[in-house]
Amino acid sequence: MELMRKKGLILELLGFVLLQLLCIGLGETYYYNWNITETSYTRLCSTKKILTVNGKFPGPALHVHRGDIVFINVVNHGTYNITLHWHGVKQPRNPWSDGPEYITQCPIQVGSSFTYEINFTTEEGTIWWHAHSDWSRATVHGPIFVYPKHGTSYPFSKPYSEVPIILGSWYKGDVMEIIEEALLNGGEPNVSDAHTINGQPGDLYPCSKAGTFRLLVEKDKTHLLRIINAGMNEEMFFAIANHSLTVVGSDGSYLKPTTTNYIMITPGQTMDCLFKADQRPSHYYMASRAYSDGTGVAFDNTTTTAIVQYSGPYTPPSSPFFPTLPYYNDTDAATNYTKSLRSLATKDHPINVPKSFHTRVYTTISVNTLPCFNNSCDGPNGSRLSSSMNNISFRNPSINILLAYYKKIRGVYDTDFPDEPPYYFNFTADDLPANLSTPLVGTKVKVVNFNSVVEVVFQGTNLIAGESHPLHLHGFSFFWVGWGFGNFNKTTDPKGYNLVDPPEINTVAVPKNGWAAIRFRADNPGVWFMHCHLERHLSWGMETVFIVKNGNSLLTSIRQKPKYMPPC
Ligand code: C2O
Ligand code: CU
Repeated sequence: MELMRKKGLILELLGFVLLQLLCIGLGETYYYNWNITETSYTRLCSTKKILTVNGKFPGPALHVHRGDIVFINVVNHGTYNITLHWHGVKQPRNPWSDGPEYITQCPIQVGSSFTYEINFTTEEGTIWWHAHSDWSRATVHGPIFVYPKHGTSYPFSKPYSEVPIILGSWYKGDVMEIIEEALLNGGEPNVSDAHTINGQPGDLYPCSKAGTFRLLVEKDKTHLLRIINAGMNEEMFFAIANHSLTVVGSDGSYLKPTTTNYIMITPGQTMDCLFKADQRPSHYYMASRAYSDGTGVAFDNTTTTAIVQYSGPYTPPSSPFFPTLPYYNDTDAATNYTKSLRSLATKDHPINVPKSFHTRVYTTISVNTLPCFNNSCDGPNGSRLSSSMNNISFRNPSINILLAYYKKIRGVYDTDFPDEPPYYFNFTADDLPANLSTPLVGTKVKVVNFNSVVEVVFQGTNLIAGESHPLHLHGFSFFWVGWGFGNFNKTTDPKGYNLVDPPEINTVAVPKNGWAAIRFRADNPGVWFMHCHLERHLSWGMETVFIVKNGNSLLTSIRQKPKYMPPC
């Protein structure tokens, strides 16, 4: 008996090694050292120190092929404890390297280091990495180019060049102080002072002309723009004057090519766009500004630009042509774009959409208020601003949930995150009574079985202010199978789902006063964060955690805890 078990174990291990060889064994392994440092940068006529990786803003790009493995030793020479997250990397069975602080690890303390292991398996296209502790991701982020596996190619003609277009936020103040102060006073954090393209605000801001990012192009060549919204708090419209974009991918998966004059991209999302320089040689602006549809919600209403510059000879215009961007609160423009996206879904790039599900979590996503002593806070009527999912405003525990789960440490989190809103009302109505606005505070997670199919329906509400929210899930990509305005109807709405070619993404824009439905197979055991990617909403508690249980073999269980994890 004992021998049989041993034999079984050995076979399992052997299978594991073989599988590793088959799945990822053909890839390369890379080792990097990344230093977190404080470095001086000057923008908008003033200089401040920002947190960076290796002194760079935006941070270094990773270039890998599908199937590669990267080890990054992060050394924290800064003044804040920090973690890094590999946004869009599924990290099969290895939540230990996923990064969100107090969820899968404790932060890397000042003066110490931690090595992340990043396994690239099924992702292909553009994803990114960013810090995942307080607001440090404002300046600590960078692109990840995932090229097709060696010996395979893009599902489109090879572009002449590939260019990251990173949308970001620049604050004149210290970002960590801004969020600390907002959490102390209970009001809205300051809005950014500029949006940026590749770290530069562009011509429309003071002291910014010299640095404006320029994309040099040659007539009739096609470029692949790998667009990332690394901004903190705003969804963005983006367009290039006189040129169209052909969207071919998003969040590390391919899409059916769609040609458009503008895109809408939420924080957390990536869009791969082919851009053909097919106009008269000249100078053209690419421009981006906020899509912010919440009534009375403060936002940065400035416009960032970069310049597409054709190679000569020609006489450049006195000022580059300017694109038409949708109006900042144009919900139709936003949803008309996002609803046009479809998975490529070909023989070479198949998708496997679950046709049914085992567990449905129907969850409200709300901005809320908490009572404040003497009504002395800066939120509505002296309250403290908050946010929630199913009326639970999430609080980080003092040790990471992954460790507590792995070591069966009690009292760190509760497993009763509700499958439904605790009470039903007309979620998207105008003038909702104030007593519906107060959430409970807690650390509640949702536990699901290995390999079960999970459907999550995000229900936006009009509490405090209805607005669009980008919801992001770690550890998976999911199929965005449906959406609509108003309240989700569980009888009629699923009939309209797209189960044929829905986009396979990791961040979905839930429309203002509407809902979005996603499905994924819980085939990745571990502890996985799910949250709004608007940073202020994350800071206020619009998040929860999925714990995916182990399957019944080593291959379907969480990997062993690394020998060293940062202590809390
Ligand atoms: Cu882009 Cu939880 O992250
Ligand atoms: Cu949000």
